[in-house]
Amino acid sequence: TFYSSKIISGQKRYSSKTWCVKHNGNDESSIYALDVLRQDVSKELNNISGIDCSLIFNALESTNNMDSGDLILPLPKIKVTNPVTTANRWATELVTHGSIGKVCAKGPFLQFFLDQRYLMQSTVPTILLQKGKYGEKKSHHQKKVVVEFSSPNIAKPFHAGHLRSTIIGGFLSNLYEAMGWSVTRMNYLGDWGRQFGLLAVGFERYGNEKALEKQPIQHLFEVYVQINKDLVEEEKNGTSQYGIGGKARTFFKKLENGDQNAIKIWNKFRSLSIHHYIQTYSRLNINFDIFSGESQVSKKYMSEALNIFYENNLVEKRDGALVIDLTHWSKKLGKVIVQKSDGTTLYLTRDVGAAIERKKDLQFDEMVYVISSQQDLYMSQLFMILKKMNFEWAKHLKHVNFGMVQGMSTRKGNVVFLDTILDEARDKALQIMKGNKVKISQVDNPQQVADLIGISAIIIQDMKSKRINNYEFNWKRMLSFEGDTGPYLQYTHSRLKSLERSSNNFTTDMLVRADFTNLDEPQLVELVRLLVQYPDVLRRAFEIQEPATVVTYLFKVCHQVSSCYKKIWIVGEPSHIAIPRLAVYSATRQVLHNAMSLLGLIPVDRM
Ligand code: ARG
Repeated sequence: TFYSSKIISGQKRYSSKTWCVKHNGNDESSIYALDVLRQDVSKELNNISGIDCSLIFNALESTNNMDSGDLILPLPKIKVTNPVTTANRWATELVTHGSIGKVCAKGPFLQFFLDQRYLMQSTVPTILLQKGKYGEKKSHHQKKVVVEFSSPNIAKPFHAGHLRSTIIGGFLSNLYEAMGWSVTRMNYLGDWGRQFGLLAVGFERYGNEKALEKQPIQHLFEVYVQINKDLVEEEKNGTSQYGIGGKARTFFKKLENGDQNAIKIWNKFRSLSIHHYIQTYSRLNINFDIFSGESQVSKKYMSEALNIFYENNLVEKRDGALVIDLTHWSKKLGKVIVQKSDGTTLYLTRDVGAAIERKKDLQFDEMVYVISSQQDLYMSQLFMILKKMNFEWAKHLKHVNFGMVQGMSTRKGNVVFLDTILDEARDKALQIMKGNKVKISQVDNPQQVADLIGISAIIIQDMKSKRINNYEFNWKRMLSFEGDTGPYLQYTHSRLKSLERSSNNFTTDMLVRADFTNLDEPQLVELVRLLVQYPDVLRRAFEIQEPATVVTYLFKVCHQVSSCYKKIWIVGEPSHIAIPRLAVYSATRQVLHNAMSLLGLIPVDRM
């Protein structure tokens, strides 16, 4: 809960002083306007009713629609008798002062509106001064989280599932940071297994050092596809142990036994791929702290895992293989193999070992796996196993899942690599930009701006609806400059930026000290009421680990900007009108900037 200091239950009343002191004493909190409104309302209602302050405080909800106030209190939530009559009575009894501007009763609800003067005078300067920090939560005891995301497989295509994991994971990492956590961004590559034997044999036959250096990911994939074809052909004609299959098995065995030569070849594939991935991820503004992978899980932790399986009586032998029967605890989890009859370990066993190792090495308070919902069952199995191994930290593991993408393809066809997708988005954005000759002539580096717009289009299309939903990849729709798209967000941001440029005769200091008494355009006031919600939006998004919460909010802000922008001007107005207006626009641009950056977009100044 936001308010964690203990409140003595009963009818105790608090003076506003103790309330504030208590609140500030809580090191988790950063106080924003809606928090002040929560405090003021709780205190006032406590005065009227004697009901515990914290009870009221926690029952106050944000609103979806601004006509119903800035905060709303559903009276049934605090268990009063006759909520409708009580709401009416309280609405008339409550003294409005401080942050509370207006109270309305509506059925069993009380609607609270921020005092307009307080709203403008506190929020706008706060945003202008806090800049990139506005909306963040401070924390003195920094907790640690490991976010594992992206995790592509070497020599296989980077598919839509990896793309979603990458952008959702990037966002979550940023969000944890904004909420005061220390974040380790981890990429867990699919870099081990029999296919590396096959790949090595394929490379001998089809490999090209130059191509490998230049486009390792693509080249390894091509080699892999070719050798696979050969293998299928060979198997049709009857396998010989000296053929591709046999050689591949031998190579992988060498790898497992740590053969220097084999490791050297494998390592080259791996490190060139990583090197290339780092460049592509940086286009998305994502930096991994750790490139781990299935190959990196140390033998020590795998055998520790197997020991614990035996100690806790979790495993049974079936046809030489080791099996854990999870149906004891949950029917739907079924039975899983943790070691094959030939002694080789599996994806699942490696994940068990990896989790133990990460806990030891990184001492996380929480670990998040960003993986498609196709692996829901698998993740529940993994978590159950760790729980039954009696690791108390198993309850701090989270699987953040997401739905499927249909039809992600490029000019070259259906197999997709991350940079091909980004390139295509960039080229398409550039084409659209070229449609406006005047505008593009003012952009310094159109190619680079087009890249940022293309990326925005991809990210916003992905995060527009709840992550669990499937969606259809649609180039045309996502790149449109109208409708709720990434380019539209960028467009709104760059428009506000241009407004700031054209009014740069007003200094930041003048804006921070703006007087809002003369600002009475309702559209601008509504805009600020939206800006006030931003810190709450972040907390909500964090609670449910949902990017769509932030995206929906961003579009509300942009729509409100549109309706202001048409009518409420700055140029040509006298300073006492121009300054407060510009202050609002400038604060709005800052909030857009913060929210877009959090999502992984790089806001552009011109486009
Ligand atoms: N490389 C896997 C895949 O492409 C995803 C890895 C997910 N992470 C994990 N710890 N299992 O499906």
